[in-house]
Amino acid sequence: MRGHERSMRNMNIMKPKNALKTIKRIISYMKPYRAHMVLVVICVLISVASNIAATYFLKPLFNRYIIPYIGQQNPDLSEFIKTILVMGIIYTIGVLATYTYNRLMVTVTTGTLYRIRIELFSHMQTLPIRFFDTHTHGELMSRYTNDTDALRNMLSQSFVNIFQSMLTVSGVFIAMLLLSPLLTGIVVLMLVIMVFIIKKLGSKSGKFFREQQMAVGKVNGYIEELIEGQKVVKVFCHENKVKADFDKLNGELFEAAKQANTFASMLRPIMGNLSYIHYSITAIAGAVMSITTGFDIGSLASFLQYTRSFSQPITMMSEQFNSILMALAGAERIFDMLDQEPETDEGFVSLVNAEKTEKGEIRESSKRTGIWAWKIPKDDGGAEYIEVKGDIRFNNVVFGYEKDKTVLSGITLYAKPGQKIAFVGSTGAGKTTVTNLLNRFYDVPEGAILYDGIPINNIKKKDLRRSLSMVLQDTHLFSGTVMENIRYGRLDATDEEVIEAAKLANADSFIRHLPQGYDTLITADGMNLSQGQRQLIAIARAAVADSPVLILDEATSSIDTRTEALIEKGMDKLMEGRTVFVIAHRLSTVRNANAIIVLENGSIVERGDHEDLIKQGGRYYQLYTGLLELA
Ligand SMILES: Nc1ncnc2c1ncn2[C@@H]1O[C@H](COP(=O)(O)OP(=O)(O)OP(=O)(O)O)[C@@H](O)[C@H]1O
Ligand SMILES: [Mg+2]
Repeated sequence: MRGHERSMRNMNIMKPKNALKTIKRIISYMKPYRAHMVLVVICVLISVASNIAATYFLKPLFNRYIIPYIGQQNPDLSEFIKTILVMGIIYTIGVLATYTYNRLMVTVTTGTLYRIRIELFSHMQTLPIRFFDTHTHGELMSRYTNDTDALRNMLSQSFVNIFQSMLTVSGVFIAMLLLSPLLTGIVVLMLVIMVFIIKKLGSKSGKFFREQQMAVGKVNGYIEELIEGQKVVKVFCHENKVKADFDKLNGELFEAAKQANTFASMLRPIMGNLSYIHYSITAIAGAVMSITTGFDIGSLASFLQYTRSFSQPITMMSEQFNSILMALAGAERIFDMLDQEPETDEGFVSLVNAEKTEKGEIRESSKRTGIWAWKIPKDDGGAEYIEVKGDIRFNNVVFGYEKDKTVLSGITLYAKPGQKIAFVGSTGAGKTTVTNLLNRFYDVPEGAILYDGIPINNIKKKDLRRSLSMVLQDTHLFSGTVMENIRYGRLDATDEEVIEAAKLANADSFIRHLPQGYDTLITADGMNLSQGQRQLIAIARAAVADSPVLILDEATSSIDTRTEALIEKGMDKLMEGRTVFVIAHRLSTVRNANAIIVLENGSIVERGDHEDLIKQGGRYYQLYTGLLELA
């Protein structure tokens, strides 16, 4: 599927939607390098001018210092040598200027890409979860790799090349006109024919080039998918089938690449030969002119030299056309991601450390006191403080990920401070969705969620999330040590606090048995740990965050029942004084909850404690006794 999506994307890989706008925007990223760019322009001007000027010197060189001396016994070569020296100096200046602008462009290019990457990454951090839910990872990755790379190529080469080519072409054109309008006419006519041939060949090669890009996309997508799914391939013994599929895709790539490169490799020699023909026709025409009309040899020598510097940039520009289009299309995809709306946050209530005065008033504190307060700014500049207790209420919450598909229909529930609330229900019932709303991964369109009486939309997202410790349904660990991974929950936690949290989660004993204990490196999302061990670390990470509300989404689903029972003891301590939401399929974990909420199809169908629900003999009873599975 992913490979397919990628290949669909590659269909448009070569076509920028609005080239001019994109170029303008790329240039805007070069702003900090304004001085560099001015220098680059100056150097390009010098380089082009010196090239044109040095060639122009051929005319006096021939007319004044070579032809008159032909056949002389003792010619005075001093003027001749002087002219050669001047030409040499001019060429040297040109070479230096070329070297300088190339060096400058390296700085401009790397610096510009550095800025774009930073902006892209920090913008990505502001994007809502919805964005990540609706884009494949491969697609997002390619903005940082392929697209940035195409852009780098363009910035470092094409940009300046084209500027230089255009200058050269115009300068040389004027110089040629000055030397001989008639010959210039012939040259231009020949060039029109050449460009026509390039276009013909180019459009053919462009088609195959696009096919090649598409084939590369398919092959890459396939490899990526198969690396991820390697275990499934082995389990179902699909190795041969997979190889055959790959062979097919690889064959397509081979064919497309062969075609594309055949045309591309034909283009150069054809152009080379054409330009020689072009050159000799011009030379013959010039010779005829100098015999019949007395066109001087010096002008002819300069003119022929110009012919070369005239046709070369034109063929080069037409050759680079494709890669420029590709780079612009890549740039557009980068900008498209930069233009994605960031997550909005209209919240104004913040979470602060607090202390209680003797009279029981809440005051803000600069230290970590273990007491938190919501700080609600008032119009007069002061603030009102409400102690964070962990009282959470859902009032008739209706929600759907997509507009016309309701996932939660009218959820009303409350969790009093310190209570343990459990959600149970079949797969896809909407349990995780409830927590996604509580931490504002998604906003509630209808109904309200109140946190200590404050609508959660009024609370700053960061502060809201800081007040919730979460163990997500899919645990994700980062590369780093075990210690660092647990500390992710609260960056200022000391080593002792981390170890304390690990003990609460009953992770301490297995961690101590790892080769380097807490300093063991976790690789690739915890591949070197068992699923259950990963969950234990995730629980420890939530424990170290030490927030007033704790949410556990299938936190112990992969942990054996004995360890789970051990964790529960630690958990009791962890849950003390906190409001806890537990989601679990294994109903033994939810038995001691204050309230069990049974969700089905996005509605609450039952609620009560374990005893009540068993007595009712309804849905929970069925789930608990396994009758549902047997039916
Ligand atoms: N990001 C999403 N985009 C669109 N639909 C989603 C998304 N996440 C979940 N859903 C849909 O919402 C419904 C509820 O999903 P949810 O993850 O809340 O179920 P759950 O009760 O947690 O199930 P499980 O026990 O399997 O974890 C499902 O029908 C699912 O298809
Ligand atoms: Mg879930």
